[in-house]
Amino acid sequence: MKNIVVTGGAGFIGSHVVRLLVKKYPEYHIINVDKLTYAGNLANLKDVEDFPNYTFVKADVCDYDRMCKLLREHEVDGIIHLAAESHVDRSIKDPFTFARTNVLGTITLLQAAKEYWQPQGWDGKRFYHISTDEVYGALEMTHPEGVRPPFSTRASSVEHHEAYGLVFFTEDMKYQPHSPYSASKASSDHFVRAFHDTYGMPSIVTNCSNNYGPYQFPEKLIPLFINNIKLRKALPVYGKGENVRDWLYVEDHARAIDLIFHEGKVADTYNIGGFNEWKNIDIIRVLIKTVDRLLGRREGEDLNLITYVTDRAGHDLRYAIDSSKLQKELGWEPSLQFEEGIEKTVRWYLDNQAWMDNVTSGDYRKYYDDMYQNH
Ligand code: NAD
Ligand code: DAU
Repeated sequence: MKNIVVTGGAGFIGSHVVRLLVKKYPEYHIINVDKLTYAGNLANLKDVEDFPNYTFVKADVCDYDRMCKLLREHEVDGIIHLAAESHVDRSIKDPFTFARTNVLGTITLLQAAKEYWQPQGWDGKRFYHISTDEVYGALEMTHPEGVRPPFSTRASSVEHHEAYGLVFFTEDMKYQPHSPYSASKASSDHFVRAFHDTYGMPSIVTNCSNNYGPYQFPEKLIPLFINNIKLRKALPVYGKGENVRDWLYVEDHARAIDLIFHEGKVADTYNIGGFNEWKNIDIIRVLIKTVDRLLGRREGEDLNLITYVTDRAGHDLRYAIDSSKLQKELGWEPSLQFEEGIEKTVRWYLDNQAWMDNVTSGDYRKYYDDMYQNH
């Protein structure tokens, strides 16, 4: 029996990680520790909430006494730490909250784990910190056309960037974060590594590219735009829509997390990404055409919703992950081609309008505030 804490398990990626672990490992006890901020939503985990090997604990990772108590009470062997403030635009408005949760929350958890684990010896223990590619900063566009053509195949990806002399984020790259969000994540990564180097904490850090898929909070590009297209609302494209992001289906990230948690090398770092770069404007056009088609509208009918707005401050130009280390060392690779993933994602949001309405109306907050008022 292993007792594993997943922090931030009620959020987007965390809920996929919890679901995967609870279903795949009936012999593990999965303890989801989440503060239920605006981004946490237990409706994301409806299908596993009654599993006997799953427990939800509403708690703030910044609460040191609570974290110490929880680790002891549940005799925790492993921590997969996803809890964070995750939206760049919010970090520009309110950097303090990001420093508190992302930096202090991570240190709190590290220190609580150290106090509990060190006296027993580190054997069999693991602190796995989930981070982002944004810590590396921004890349130039060195491809002649700025980005790979849409829908190119995964098989050609490594050769492709070599052929074009494209620079990708590799694990040994210098950290150069630009936004308060990425600066807070970079800081937390440094603390995780410092706890390994100073105390011997068996830790791992992974840095992943943009995730997409079901249950993402509709402040992020893909769910926000799918919902707006459906409702025929304006699509606020920052700047010229030229920025490039590297998209990975969220379940592929969850599978990578499971693999690395079990087989990754302690004190090591892995980049996770699907070699799937897109200019924002290209992905937005695909979203419009896909939503139009699935709603029985004329494909492209809603292209006029595109509205160019003031750019995000300090907007990073391009992210692109080189995940060949993870592919070579642990044999992970993305399971979905982007065209399948995006179709699946658009369908999910269109089929789950109740989830979307619940989140956008804020009703889900009232439900949890009542349910957990005594926690
Ligand atoms: P999210 O915003 O959807 O979810 C974050 C979760 O953390 C929420 O459930 C929230 O309630 C919880 N939380 C926030 N503050 C907390 C606190 N103080 N104590 C306990 N719980 C708290 O985020 P996400 O997109 O699922 O990202 C999860 C992690 O993965 C983050 O660490 C993020 O930096 C990282 N990441 C995200 C992406 C992406 O594309 N979304 C890519 C790479 C890495
Ligand atoms: O790269 C990994 C990161 O990806 C994660 O660490 C973050 O937690 C996650 O939020 C995401 O960050 P981005 O800033 O890249 O994601 P977002 O969905 O906010 O924006 C994607 C791109 O779309 C970005 O270039 C900004 C642009 N955008 C976004 C929104 C919300 C718009 O043009 N208009 C918008 O309304």
